[in-house]
Amino acid sequence: MKTESTKLPPIDPARAEVIEQSGGAIAALDPIGAQVSGVDLSSGDAPPPGVIDVLEREMALRGFLVFKNATQLDAEDFLRASCLWGGRELHSTHGVHPETPGGNRHIFRLSNDERHGIPDVGPQWHNDGSFLPATFSHSGYHIIRPAENGGGTHFAHQGLAFEALPEERQERWSRLSSVNSASGVVHPLVHVHPVSGQTCIWLHLGMTGAVIEKLPGGDGFRLLQADELKQLCHDYNEILNAGLTDGYGVAYEYHENDCVFIDNLAVAHRAAPEAHMPVEQQGLRIMHRSTVKGTKDLAPAFDLPQHVNIDGPNPLGEGVWQGGGVGFRWEEGIPMRN
Ligand SMILES: [Fe+2]
Repeated sequence: MKTESTKLPPIDPARAEVIEQSGGAIAALDPIGAQVSGVDLSSGDAPPPGVIDVLEREMALRGFLVFKNATQLDAEDFLRASCLWGGRELHSTHGVHPETPGGNRHIFRLSNDERHGIPDVGPQWHNDGSFLPATFSHSGYHIIRPAENGGGTHFAHQGLAFEALPEERQERWSRLSSVNSASGVVHPLVHVHPVSGQTCIWLHLGMTGAVIEKLPGGDGFRLLQADELKQLCHDYNEILNAGLTDGYGVAYEYHENDCVFIDNLAVAHRAAPEAHMPVEQQGLRIMHRSTVKGTKDLAPAFDLPQHVNIDGPNPLGEGVWQGGGVGFRWEEGIPMRN
């Protein structure tokens, strides 16, 4: 399959120099993301503030950074490195698997074998912490054991995905807000990234209970009907899928000792289908995930409230209003576990 190359600008030379002066190096990955080497995350000393700032900016622009570590980080190193970004502290809301080192509640241990970690998480495009007003600023993925036959993570750049939308759809999506099925938190479908300034799209394909449309050219709101919400979810899925061939998404495969940090407002992600395939077929996969506290609420426009009662009666007349679980099922039979 022929894929287009990157639509992102090269790494800013002045920023690259800041990293080189501290003994590290950064290289753009094609088509999104960047690779960082020579920055020792296992040392108790944090990189200088100038280096952190540069890395955080490149992460916002390019979506994610892969740290190539000389040796396997331990859990504490990984968690400390997670706190270099965004809200600078961990915000952990997940279950703790019995195999988690030290029972550390900040590590979400994932695996394709339930004896080693929680299976089947995140098969559809999403951003982490969508049930919170201030969604996680960053997430970390530390591969403990890459599966021999593959099983990585798909990333899609949500700023470049917005640019890829036809103008008419950009306008319509800018009037939409999604309601999280688990919490009733409301987020805009289109927002401006706080660091990069890029206009980005945002929707959780496994935890959306309603979508509210601001009526064009006037006051008032309506809810999307089931057929409209189904279409929207399919369109969102397709524009992110298209990134994998059109130069704004990647199916990332982890290598030994890799540690990946994503800007959770810049890229959507999902587990690659191979990540959930049986051990006998793929080999054993174990990954640790961390989540970093958000820096500000991802607030809806049009004076909509940040929170609605999705488990209560529908306040907007006809349309999908479905609290609990994975929310609205936009395609029968697909896995949607969070
Ligand atoms: Fe996730």
